[in-house]
Amino acid sequence: MSEAWPVAIAQGWHPLAALAAVGSKPLARRLMGTPIVLFLSSGKPVAMLDRCPHRALKLSDGCVRGGTIACPYHGWRFGADGRCVEVPGSDEVPDVAARVLPVEVRAGLVWTCLAEKPPLFPRLPALLDDPGLDHFRWLVAPTRMRLLDGIENMLDPVHPHYVHPWFLRGPARRAMRVEVSLGPDGGEAIYHEHARATGIVPRLFEGKRLVSIGRYFPPTIGQLEFRTERGLSVSLTAIFVPEDEDLVRPYALFATRKGLAPAWLKRWVLKAFNLPLLRQDQRVLAGQVEALKDWGAVDFAIGPADLLGPTIWRLANGRPQPPEQRTTTLYL
Ligand code: FES
Ligand SMILES: [Fe+2]
Repeated sequence: MSEAWPVAIAQGWHPLAALAAVGSKPLARRLMGTPIVLFLSSGKPVAMLDRCPHRALKLSDGCVRGGTIACPYHGWRFGADGRCVEVPGSDEVPDVAARVLPVEVRAGLVWTCLAEKPPLFPRLPALLDDPGLDHFRWLVAPTRMRLLDGIENMLDPVHPHYVHPWFLRGPARRAMRVEVSLGPDGGEAIYHEHARATGIVPRLFEGKRLVSIGRYFPPTIGQLEFRTERGLSVSLTAIFVPEDEDLVRPYALFATRKGLAPAWLKRWVLKAFNLPLLRQDQRVLAGQVEALKDWGAVDFAIGPADLLGPTIWRLANGRPQPPEQRTTTLYL
């Protein structure tokens, strides 16, 4: 693992896959440049470094049998605790083990942590497991972006006018009071909208919007929440998993109020309307990676609408974010 990862990211818990995707075939994943194999043993997900201790072949190219994983090269088998349990062609078993990583299953996802001493599993956003809501997962393919820039992009209120014109906000800007709360646990920006949304997508589904909210949960989670007079209309929680430098696998978790339309229809509609938005953001974030190749590490200027970015950079890098509350006006 590279030394260059921000400390809270390097020490953090990250999802590797949906629990339902872990089965009888080994699943190969990467986290911060480290190859990891996932498989099921006695019904429980196991995560290991994807490296056979014998000659370093990828265990994920092998197969799972009886809760053990067999290397594709000489067939050494390893149990859920990583210990070698069989060397084909011999009665002897060497005292070696593959490194097993800690695993937690939360919000239907299998999480791990690469730190030597994993911290306690963090508090996840409350909306993720509210049984009163319909929940959908959207597993997006790894995408070219820098991790913290991806999180900031999701929570940035201004770029929709340029990157997603007409989709989320129309050209007629309105004054909006924004309450910003920052602190050691993250950041929140509440946009007091109190009007019908101007973008095409929300106009189709929402009545009068009361507020929209952007939240940052350190180190890698962003959340958007849209509320109308009838309550929650939709929330999107995105967990950004750093696979490699400039390569991020986002997990998008939607929650909507129950009722109105069947869950399968809402799932279909949410994906259909968010796909073009995702493509537009992917283009701009890949463009940012490309642009930065010419400049290396530059200091970013901070503008009046960069409400959460500086907090993301601070907390991800293990620097303190003192509690702060303020109100501002933006024209969105
Ligand atoms: S490299 Fe894995 S068993 Fe030889
Ligand atoms: Fe966007």
